[in-house]
Amino acid sequence: MSKCISLLGLQWGDEGKGKLVDFLSKDIDAAVRYQGGHNAGHTLIVGKDKIIFHLLPSAIYHKNIQCFIGRGVVVSLEAFFQEIKEASNFIGDIKERLTISSACSLIQSYHIKIEQLREMSKSQVTIGTTGKGIGPTYEDRVGRRSIRVVDLYTPSLLEDKLKEALSFYNFQFKHYFNSDEEDLSNLLDRNLELAEDLRPYVGNVIQELRQLQDNNKNILFEGAQGSLLDISFGTYPFVTSSNSSVGGISSGAGISPSALDYSLGVTKAYTTRVGEGPFPTELTNGVGEHLAAKGSEIGATTGRPRRCGWLDGVLLSHMAYLNGVNGLCLTKIDVLDGLDKIKICVDYSSAKKKEYILETMSLEEIKPKYVELSGWKESTYQIQKFHELNQGAKNFIDKVEEISGIPVVMVSTGPKREDIIVREYPLNL
Ligand code: GDP
Ligand code: IMO
Ligand code: MG
Repeated sequence: MSKCISLLGLQWGDEGKGKLVDFLSKDIDAAVRYQGGHNAGHTLIVGKDKIIFHLLPSAIYHKNIQCFIGRGVVVSLEAFFQEIKEASNFIGDIKERLTISSACSLIQSYHIKIEQLREMSKSQVTIGTTGKGIGPTYEDRVGRRSIRVVDLYTPSLLEDKLKEALSFYNFQFKHYFNSDEEDLSNLLDRNLELAEDLRPYVGNVIQELRQLQDNNKNILFEGAQGSLLDISFGTYPFVTSSNSSVGGISSGAGISPSALDYSLGVTKAYTTRVGEGPFPTELTNGVGEHLAAKGSEIGATTGRPRRCGWLDGVLLSHMAYLNGVNGLCLTKIDVLDGLDKIKICVDYSSAKKKEYILETMSLEEIKPKYVELSGWKESTYQIQKFHELNQGAKNFIDKVEEISGIPVVMVSTGPKREDIIVREYPLNL
């Protein structure tokens, strides 16, 4: 029987998804990215090598896995070819094992430019985006005017659509931002040039996934970003512009929601966030600095420092529910080694009801209420067997299960593929 498994971040991204995809790759046949774009940064540490995937599914590292970029992903052709070039030592020629949907919307240079102008503008809210043009491209998609991969192969249509787009964007560049306009013929030429390079990768993702299911293959859906960055469920407006929760899989890849057999939720043992937006459990003291330093919390895409704080059990439980999480993978527990006390937020004190807070995700004016656990002095780094963990770490894991109501099926104890404890293997279904 074919198995479909989703692997989703339950926080504000960077939970360790790339490492887990790499670990699970030995038992999957196909892997799919279904939302987001090259704003993602998924790190694999294999031996002495560190590889960061942005737009490509992380499982592309494994030569026997068929990979897909579904229609829900926004694609920068420049970034696509750049990434293939940079990773070529590891992945080789991937034309035979990567299919990109002809229905993907394309990120154009004017999307990146307008995003950067908006982020710098004093009259607009600064989100702290990755600056990759993700938001404006999704705006065009929803506005029914985006340029899709398929359009690249009808030059007259492509030219008309680029002309229409430029009349919209150039007006804003000139009159609103007092900035330079973009040139149609340059843009058209660049699109047509890259279109030819892209041709071997373009295909019908829905049909290929259907065939894989019919042939009893195991398919992994790799979430990018995290559920708290989901355009619908996240801390709006400080979110990304796609459905990074489980709901995005169906529309972004093209499979039925009932085809999913297992939802694996990934959470760090603490919390990080890059960019602006509310973060109730943020620590701006020495403990926060300890987490940042020990966890090497630097953004994998932008190199920005990540804000750090305690695990937020209220948000974890809510996101586990919304994503139908069957099992949790708790990552970076080793980063907590050596702390005297460890806190987990279990409730908020606020004039507003918790239901209202979670419905709106307005987290600005709340104060977290914590349970405090004893820390541990022993190292958990690179432990692979649950019974070898110290009692303090075991108590912490029990508490996470109690608060979230979800079993912790895996515990990650270091950045390498083999630094992991498996308590219940998600692919033994
Ligand atoms: P992703 O976006 O969810 O794939 O996560 P990132 O790759 O952006 O960030 C996770 C970082 O933590 C990477 O540098 C990983 O190598 C590292 N990492 C993953 N799991 C662990 C772990 O269990 N312990 C430690 N110390 N580092 C980890
Ligand atoms: P992975 O897949 C962490 C954040 C940005 C910003 C907000 C909107 O590696 O977990 P965008 O460029 O998407 O419009 O920015 O979302 N963000 C991420 N934060 N990890 C990511 O991806 C992120 N992708 C976007 O920092 O706050
Ligand atoms: Mg990341």
